[in-house]
Amino acid sequence: MTSLAELAARAPLGNLRPGRISPPRQVPSHISRPEYMFHDGPEVITASDVKDAETIGRIREAGRIAARALQAVGRAVAPGVTTDELDRIGHEYLCDHGAYPSCLGYMGYPKSLCTSVNEVICHGIPDDRPLEEGDIVNVDITAYVGGVHGDTCAMFEVGQVDEASHLLCERTEKAMLRGIKAIRPGREINVIGRVIEAWAKRFEYGVVRDYTGHGVGEAFHSGLIVPHYDAAPKHAEVMEVGMVFTVEPMLTLGTIEWEQWDDDWTVVTADRSRSAQYEHTVVVTEDGAEILTLP
Ligand code: MF3
Ligand code: CO
Ligand code: CO
Repeated sequence: MTSLAELAARAPLGNLRPGRISPPRQVPSHISRPEYMFHDGPEVITASDVKDAETIGRIREAGRIAARALQAVGRAVAPGVTTDELDRIGHEYLCDHGAYPSCLGYMGYPKSLCTSVNEVICHGIPDDRPLEEGDIVNVDITAYVGGVHGDTCAMFEVGQVDEASHLLCERTEKAMLRGIKAIRPGREINVIGRVIEAWAKRFEYGVVRDYTGHGVGEAFHSGLIVPHYDAAPKHAEVMEVGMVFTVEPMLTLGTIEWEQWDDDWTVVTADRSRSAQYEHTVVVTEDGAEILTLP
């Protein structure tokens, strides 16, 4: 028997469809562009993942702008608001603060932010679908300013949300924070995912494996990979003071298998169960980590 309370606590399966995508937004010409805007294909950057204090200061500044843009977008989340409108708000915040929206034009990505609704795991493209009461939406914003990127994302609840979805969001943020707390110089990168996976397993959540954290700084994605599952003995790179990367776990209420829409970006759970994600850019310090994407 399933009680009424249990039914009410259960998150709905999704049936999202691609919407209409508006033309790319303009960036004022005085704002400097990341190098991938000047050629086709992946970015070509050779900076070390270990940064000096001056570079870390610049990433902190880019991170602050990204975090404040995320807050501004979050305040606008409500039933009836389209994800295209969220894109407009984030885009304008970044440009008004001298930052380039790193997503715009990255490997051909058409908009300035990612907005991932319900069963979308990541890389949802803002479109003309109005948010609905009960939706959960991830907003992922990266700011490029001062020659470096700051990358952060968070979940927002649209009106009243079912208990299972609410808990998924809350526990995904805790998963990210626990992963960050496990960071110490001398430890292997794979401790982060070990801690996150152990936490997620308590709730029988899926831990997405095919999308990971990454080194970030002069490059948007440096090539360093930060798994959110227990990848040992792989991903055994030793963390060093000054290393900068993201921690951005994606947890699901069902499977971690995924499908991609024909837009070549939107990643949805294969069973249409809901997914949540939080992200910070962090730097390894003498005694742990500092979050660089705080408002
Ligand atoms: N911000 C995403 C990340 O956390 C990357 C988005 S790439 C885009 O790595 F092209 F989809 F915008
Ligand atoms: Co990222
Ligand atoms: Co991101």
